[in-house]
Amino acid sequence: SSQPSNSSDPFLKCLSSSIPSQLVLTPSSPSFTPLLRFSIRNPKFFASTTVRPLYIVTPTNASHVQSAVLCGRQAGMRIRVRSGGHDYEGLSYRAERPQPFAILDLSNLRSVRVDAPSATAWVDSGAQLGELYYAIGKASVQLGFPAGLCPTVGVGGHFSGGGFGMLLRKYGLAVDNVIDAVLVDAKGRLLNRTTMGSDVFWAIRGGGGESFGVVVSWQVRLVPVPPKVTVFNVAVSASQGAVDVVTRWQQVAPALPEDLFIRVVVQQQTASFQSLFLGTCDALLPLGTCDALLPVMRCRFRELGLKMNRTQCQEMTWIQSVPYFYPGTGSDGTTVEYILNRTTSLSTYAKMTSDYVRKAIRRDAWESIFATWLARLDAGIMILDPYGAAISNVSEHETPFPHRAGVLYNIQYVNVWFDGGGGGAAQFKWIREFYAFMEPYVSSSPREAYFNYRDLDLGENVVVGNVSSYEAGKVWGEKYFRDNYRRLAAAKDEIDPDDYFRNEQSIPPLGLGN
Ligand code: FDA
Repeated sequence: SSQPSNSSDPFLKCLSSSIPSQLVLTPSSPSFTPLLRFSIRNPKFFASTTVRPLYIVTPTNASHVQSAVLCGRQAGMRIRVRSGGHDYEGLSYRAERPQPFAILDLSNLRSVRVDAPSATAWVDSGAQLGELYYAIGKASVQLGFPAGLCPTVGVGGHFSGGGFGMLLRKYGLAVDNVIDAVLVDAKGRLLNRTTMGSDVFWAIRGGGGESFGVVVSWQVRLVPVPPKVTVFNVAVSASQGAVDVVTRWQQVAPALPEDLFIRVVVQQQTASFQSLFLGTCDALLPLGTCDALLPVMRCRFRELGLKMNRTQCQEMTWIQSVPYFYPGTGSDGTTVEYILNRTTSLSTYAKMTSDYVRKAIRRDAWESIFATWLARLDAGIMILDPYGAAISNVSEHETPFPHRAGVLYNIQYVNVWFDGGGGGAAQFKWIREFYAFMEPYVSSSPREAYFNYRDLDLGENVVVGNVSSYEAGKVWGEKYFRDNYRRLAAAKDEIDPDDYFRNEQSIPPLGLGN
């Protein structure tokens, strides 16, 4: 072969009998670095100091995944699974500490098979959300799927951690709509919902990627959407009363009719209210009814509704709303086809973390947030996603995702910087200090966080006797999963007791005595 120095490696040797050699890349192959880089979102994890993989395996079918796992176990080579590469800490393709590992890159496993008559679809993990949405939109203007906003997010990681977007109040999480899945476990077995068993099927729907095996594909229930939806994006500055409108939004947004979703993006001194309504803008209905968007806004959220008029609302199909809420750059940035674009840029460094709010934050606290934190030179943004309705009507034990009844909204803190930005020191400082400031206003015991907004500042696994420690994992695990953490660890014990699949925040096996 062209890589004689590696031919004695037991992992490669094992793979050579079961996977075509062009699907296994070593650092000396010319496509290794371009492929590694392909789905990295955060250049922070593409630095000279980044701990990189020894190999990248790019399966084109499930049996390749099985072989990679079997060879990995046999040869003592760990595997990090990558679908869309959007992990906020890059754990799908880099390690925090030096260690040998291979990437199993699923970007070639990306078919979407929509069955419109039964309103279901099978989607492979390596597909991106934009590809799933596009295929659904092609099949029917009256079907949609409730998942995240960014079209390049991978189905594999996103579904593994829950997944939510503009339809969350009507239809809940992506995983609330998963009805079957194909999993390759640590023994290399190919399992479905029935053969993996109910505990494991429960765990893979929100318990986090990497922990339970490799999910190759998912069967989902598609959801009905009206042929026309209405969107708006209304900005209110501090001088126009943003503090009052945001304060009021906290009570109103989680209690609105389920067809109306209004999130807030707060940046500098402006709050932008971004909304998806599953209906039309005006209704040809008697005065005083609340069935169309403008009347609902005036009935239920006067503080914003009275600032609005018809020109701010746009009616479109659900699929057209996808690029509306996540526009790309360039002249074709808002066409529906743009959501199929798989290339991502490596220009923006970012740090994120999250909180949950169960009790509305007082007006005076919002005043200091605007006057102090958002006014700082290195300030980032806050994204507030309201819960209530469908996402909150599911019991907190139904899936691993526990942030349900009682949650008013999720906060995501985001701060970004560019090359030459001092390595992000100021942006990290802003996020960490602001996070400390927010403690009295957000959920506590535990202070909750959303798994898909992964943050290693919340804690990391400690490996004891070659297995991640259940006890040590509680520090981050209970923030993401509350008391579902223990049940996840029990499922891990059942499917991967040796902890073959692991990373810095994977579910540890429960182990004896716990
Ligand atoms: P990636 O491939 O990096 O995987 C993430 C984790 O899952 C890793 O630990 C990986 O090993 C594991 N994994 C991946 N594929 C797997 C598989 N097939 N089987 C088992 N484990 C697997 N979230 C949200 O809920 N709503 C939103 O609107 C957004 N928006 C958004 C925008 C942008 C720009 C980014 C960068 C991120 C988001 N997210 C989000 C967060 C997103 O849901 C989260 O990062 C997902 O884990 C990304 O999934 P990928 O497959 O892209 O990640």
